[in-house]
Amino acid sequence: MIWAGYHVSRGSDHLSIAAQTNGFEHKFTFEWLRDHCRDPSVYDSDTHQRSISILDINPDVHPFKFQVIQGADDVLSITWNDGHVSTYDLKWLIRQSGQENRKQAFKSPIQRTPWNIPTLPQSSQTNTDFQEFMDSAKGVEKVIRSIREHGFAMVDGVEPTTKATKLTVERMVPVSQTIYGEMFELRNEEKEDVSDSSYSNVALGAHTDTTYYNEAFGLQIFHCLQPAARGGANILVDGFKIAELLKKANPDAYQFFRKTPLEAEYIHSRSEPQEHYYNVDYVFKHHPISDELEQFRFNVYDRAPHKMGLSEQRLFYRYYRELAALIVDETNVMRVQLHPGTVLFIDNWRVMHGRTGFQGQRIMSGCYVNRSDFISRAKVFDLA
Ligand SMILES: [Fe+2]
Repeated sequence: MIWAGYHVSRGSDHLSIAAQTNGFEHKFTFEWLRDHCRDPSVYDSDTHQRSISILDINPDVHPFKFQVIQGADDVLSITWNDGHVSTYDLKWLIRQSGQENRKQAFKSPIQRTPWNIPTLPQSSQTNTDFQEFMDSAKGVEKVIRSIREHGFAMVDGVEPTTKATKLTVERMVPVSQTIYGEMFELRNEEKEDVSDSSYSNVALGAHTDTTYYNEAFGLQIFHCLQPAARGGANILVDGFKIAELLKKANPDAYQFFRKTPLEAEYIHSRSEPQEHYYNVDYVFKHHPISDELEQFRFNVYDRAPHKMGLSEQRLFYRYYRELAALIVDETNVMRVQLHPGTVLFIDNWRVMHGRTGFQGQRIMSGCYVNRSDFISRAKVFDLA
């Protein structure tokens, strides 16, 4: 039947809906439609949570009648064989269709722009003033957009204290509670309860953090409270650019790191309680539906013994050297001399960080943010 520019027809166990503009048929089984009923008795439209179990739905459910009701938003109304009535915004319904655009529907809504030295983003794109960030939603949106597009952002004009750093981060997203506490202060001195190499003055090659976590932290935040007398620049390398370069130079190596999970671990043994984090995952992790690169994971320090067969070992070392060489190639390495007042947000699922060696005391304040918390905030602005 045709209503308001839609052709709706019934199959043995499904409805087909075609917008007359392109004639493409979007098909939904009766069970799918009933399961996606948006009636307040079965669904909370504020939280988008269902309030019934799948077992509450009769598998033999089928429409007694259906029609399109024209209005500001055209609506499909179905009266079911048990008397329940469901209504669906047709534009919403078509957006949920899996036939034409499932892969498309999961593509990132923003363009991720891989960079290296010749294509560094402008500071006008990546830097936001503290007052604008604190006072307007637009300021927050600008920071999130920069993190999503370029993998990092900076907020300038923050009071150089750990307290102000926390306040700045919490304007956007909650600070994560970790085994290092909430806020950390990295000083080049031996701390009794922390054995991590970050707490020294040696150079650290570019890496992503917490590869040993099942969900690596989403953001890493740094605020330099006291710069070193000499050296101590921060290093940033875009993992998405590295992915692009490796894929071009050696597609087999790219596929290897896409398909071969690597072991990572961190043992925290100098204090109680002791910890042993352990995880296996890919260097290049793609979205399960859109197939887009979603996460880059690289940390030479946190690798656990690789339990591989002989041929895998040979391939691993050949390809891992190639990957590591791209990461230290100066064309790909951005150096940032952080000053008190600038808070740096890094997408830990994409951009690697490191530092040059230094002399004198250097104090770096910072924290982590959960990936889920960050993506949730980005979604509010339609940036994830
Ligand atoms: Fe790190």
